[in-house]
Amino acid sequence: MSTKKLWGGRFSGTTNEFVESFTASVHFDKRLAEVDVRCSRAHAKTLLTASILSQSEYDAIVNGLDQLITDIQSGDFRWDPALEDVHMNIEARLIELIGEPGRKLHTARSRNDQVASSFRLFLLENSDGLRTTLLNLQEELLNKAASHTHTIMPGFTHLQNAQPITFGHHLMAWFEMFDRDLARLSDWHRRTNVSPMGSAALAGTSYPIDRREFQSIMGFESVTRNSLDTVSDRDFAIELVGVLSTIMMHLSRCCEEVILWMSPAFGFISLPDELCTGSSIMPQKKNPDVAELIRGKSGRVIGHLNGLLMLMKGQPLAYNRDNQEDKESVFDALDTTHQSVIAMALLVAGISAIPSRMLELASQGHPTATDMADWLVRHGIAFRSAHEICGKAVSLANERKVELHELTLDELKELSDSFDESVFECLTLEGSIAARKHPGGTAPDTVVEAIEAARTRLTLQLKRTSANA
Ligand code: ARG
Repeated sequence: MSTKKLWGGRFSGTTNEFVESFTASVHFDKRLAEVDVRCSRAHAKTLLTASILSQSEYDAIVNGLDQLITDIQSGDFRWDPALEDVHMNIEARLIELIGEPGRKLHTARSRNDQVASSFRLFLLENSDGLRTTLLNLQEELLNKAASHTHTIMPGFTHLQNAQPITFGHHLMAWFEMFDRDLARLSDWHRRTNVSPMGSAALAGTSYPIDRREFQSIMGFESVTRNSLDTVSDRDFAIELVGVLSTIMMHLSRCCEEVILWMSPAFGFISLPDELCTGSSIMPQKKNPDVAELIRGKSGRVIGHLNGLLMLMKGQPLAYNRDNQEDKESVFDALDTTHQSVIAMALLVAGISAIPSRMLELASQGHPTATDMADWLVRHGIAFRSAHEICGKAVSLANERKVELHELTLDELKELSDSFDESVFECLTLEGSIAARKHPGGTAPDTVVEAIEAARTRLTLQLKRTSANA
């Protein structure tokens, strides 16, 4: 006992040791250290501009902060839990290093606007990596889809054979999910990119600092509009974890399919040994553990979202210490999602399709019954009646243990005298998929076009990302 507290003026007693460790957050919020130091440097500049610091005081602070960055990066910085959090650790060490000028740095700010600024910036900067990995995943999806534009597989509803589709079309459905996730991430980025500094503890500051100066040094788009809201708002963290949860939900759905497809019951795909693991007891096993883990981790991230919503829902304005509990789950959600997207890209690249097995299953269960009904509609029958006639045809085929196209024309004519020989052309799997050639359909030519359009968009995004890097 005990490090002198920066807020210790009004206290005569020392902090209970258990309380000291219970309230400390430095063991996890030290991840904000570098961004927090950069924010302090920008804040010092606003103090200089407002003539609150002299040039020499400002220089001393900047040199001191530079030294701290070196120590933080080299691992020489000694984090002290008695100083609570990352902000107090940095400020206390700066004062130790440069003396009096360091004691002026906290003028016109509070840890409340400080943590809001550092946390926002950290998330803005660290979500860029996720964006790039999502684009890489999309690239793998496009490459895989491009080699399967003509590979027929069963499309399912209710996990029952529904209509034939192509494997390329299915992979492009995954692509679309991540496209929307990327758009959500951009929206979030725009809303989060506002500068809290100047809000101070809750009511704003009485010092003549220019809030826009800090904003522009740190690269924020604008300044926040209400000081109370600014220091208590954690929507930006919750919204990010909402986006991450949606990404994980999508990954989990894809993984569920990978797991099903790899089961011999489907036998649609195989994965290379390097992406699978074995069983400690059953020598024959090769398991899709990576996919299962992504599915499992989605629960963890979605749990964090629930945790954050619960954390906020009872808080009166403005800042409350509850908010310190936001960081671990947000950090973990970001790390877990990032890792999971990387793993998914490996899985997608590793998928090797087994077209013969896909075709075998795609042929079962009368998947072209809808095409037969559509044929009747084109020959003047109302859809509801066509549906009923084809239902009877399915029932007859089941009775005879044959597929729809194996029924004879005479048998079909018994059900409707509109049938003629040309109906058999649309009962093939190839005929069925080729007929769906509108934008968004599964026809091979359409899927080729969809892949080309997506590749143009993706190349643009990748260029933009590397230009910003
Ligand atoms: N460590 C705190 C947090 O993460 C910083 C803000 C602090 N506090 C205060 N006691 N007003 O929320």
